[in-house]
Order: sequence, then C-alpha cells, then structure tokens
Amino acid sequence: MSAQELVTTAKAMVADGKGLLAMDESTRTCNKRFEKVGIPQTEEARRSYREMILTTPGLGEFISGVILYDETIRQSRKDGTLFVKVITDAGIIPGIKVDTGEEDMAGHPGEKITEGLDGLRDRLAEYSQMGARFAKWRAEITIADGVPSRGCIEANAHALARYAALCQEAGLVPVVEPEVLMDGEHSMDRCLEVTTEVLRTVFSQLSTQRVALEGMILKPNMVLPGKDCPKQESVEEVADATVTCLLRSVPAAVPGIAFLSGGQPYELASARLNAMNVRFKSRLPWALAFSFARAIQQPALEIWKGRQAHAAAAQQALFHRARCNSAARLGEYGAEMENNVGSRAK
Ligand code: 13P
Repeated sequence: MSAQELVTTAKAMVADGKGLLAMDESTRTCNKRFEKVGIPQTEEARRSYREMILTTPGLGEFISGVILYDETIRQSRKDGTLFVKVITDAGIIPGIKVDTGEEDMAGHPGEKITEGLDGLRDRLAEYSQMGARFAKWRAEITIADGVPSRGCIEANAHALARYAALCQEAGLVPVVEPEVLMDGEHSMDRCLEVTTEVLRTVFSQLSTQRVALEGMILKPNMVLPGKDCPKQESVEEVADATVTCLLRSVPAAVPGIAFLSGGQPYELASARLNAMNVRFKSRLPWALAFSFARAIQQPALEIWKGRQAHAAAAQQALFHRARCNSAARLGEYGAEMENNVGSRAK
C-alpha cells in the first residue's frame, strides 16, 4: 500500500457520519463480559456473538470499520463465510488489534506497559494478507496519587510510535490509542492535564519514529471527571475541555480522532460527542468520530444472552446505537432519538 492509500483509508475510516465499531475484546475481556450476563465462555459462543454483530442489516450505513481480535479474524459465519468477507461485503473496512495486552510495569507500582512489539512485523504481514487494512494498539494510563509517572507515559508513547511505524511499513493504518482511564476520584481538570501531557508525548514520539500523521487515526479518551469524583461536569463542559485538550496537543495533519467510550453510560457518550460536533465541528482541522466498544455493543449483549432467538432484537439495539453515534458525528443527536429504539434495521 502506498502512502497515498494509507491516507485514503484513514479518511474513509472517519468519513462523515461514520465511525469505528471496536469488537476486539481479548478472549479474557470477552469472557468477563459474557460471564456477567450468563453466557457460556466458549469459543463457539464468542464466534456466534461476533456473527450476530457482523450480520446486523444496514450496519455499513453508520460504521466505517470494525476492529477484530486475533481469534475473530480467523473465524467464519456458520455457513463458512470468513468474517473478513462478511465485513468487506457490507462495505466496512476490517481492522485488527495487534498489541498483546498490558502488563505491570517494572519499578512503577500501579502502572501498566503494553506489550506486543516482538514479532510484530511478521504478525502485521499475516493480518494484511488476511485482509486487515488498519490496526490498533492500546496503552493504558492510570490517574491516582503520584501517578501517572513520566516513565510510564514515555514508555507507552514510545511503544505506540514503534507500533505505528511498523503498521505504516506494512500498509496498515495505525489507530493509536493512549487511554487515560476514568477510574478514580480525580477532577476533570486533572484529566485535562494528564491527557494533554500524554498526547503531547505520543505525538513527539510519533514524529521521532517518522510516522506519517496523515496516515493514522488517534483514538483517545474524552476529558472526563473520574467516575467517583463528586463533581460531574455537564455535557457541554466535557465537550469544551476535550476539544481544548485536543487543540493543544494533536497536529492538524491527523485526519481523524475516534474516541473510545471507556465505560461511560452509552447515551452520555453519544451526547458528549454530539456536543463537540455541534459546538466546534466547523472550526476543527480533524474529524471527531467514535471507536466505541461498550457504548455500541452493551445493550445488544444484554439482549442477546447467547440465544439465537434474541439475535434480531440484539441487532436492532446495536443498529440503534450505531445510528445514534452516527448522528452525534453530525451534531444531530438528541435524547428524543433514544425513544425510537424500535425502528428496525433495514
Ligand atoms: P470502549 O469503547 O468500551 O472503551 O472500548 C474501546 C476500545 O477499543 C478499548 O480498547
């Protein structure tokens, strides 16, 4: 893939009115979510769940790309059609999570470092050959007393940049995901400060590692008060703080920013993205899109519960969240949309 093709793919991933569906939960995370709603934690249940998601009628109207996990990219529909073909036939771009997860960081109690650089060049070549056109790597940053440390931020930013350079070499668009967690009692101001420092460090490392900014997507957290912070700012205040942070730290050459949802209530994730687009869209150099997992999938998972008989209703719930987030991309989402869950997927 040429540099121009990377740019074309990156732009298509954040095309107006569209965003990414993250369905790249590792086996461990997927099993944890299944356990909570009483679904057996088997490979067949995971395959069947992913088949339900990927065969949602009309999904390509709102979803530009899906992020798969290593197990999933090798799986097929019950009729034998590879998921990658199901995805491309729906007009959606297939992508893949390529980090191998977070480990405790040596010498840094309470902090994590993401692993997966060893052998990455070979794995990227295989995924590309299987049809993936973009890849994702997530770094996790915790806010607590004396944390995050400079060591943790720098090590994670360096790994993100080395992964991104390898992706572009392999012709895959890197989705660079430094996630500042919303767990904790910290204020929104503290999240603004930490997220700004993290993003500035990430872009400094991306530049050092010669990553072409035009051929990548940034996947950050929104700037939020900690989940347990007594003061919870309004939707508009969150939108303002998030855009302020991004303007201070993300170069204009980046085509798009696709937020993770991070455990926010799904309606709030849509409302906050919508407020950013309503208030700032015409003045921003990059598209503001979504790359949600829980904020698109959660209602569908709770309906599906592993039962084929629930598949159509679960798909309807998934389609609804995809449509709400598509509207938020356009600044056209409103709470009244939530009363129309019943309108069917085409
Ligand atoms: P959430 O939207 O559930 O935070 O997941 C996004 C993601 O891909 C995390 O890596």
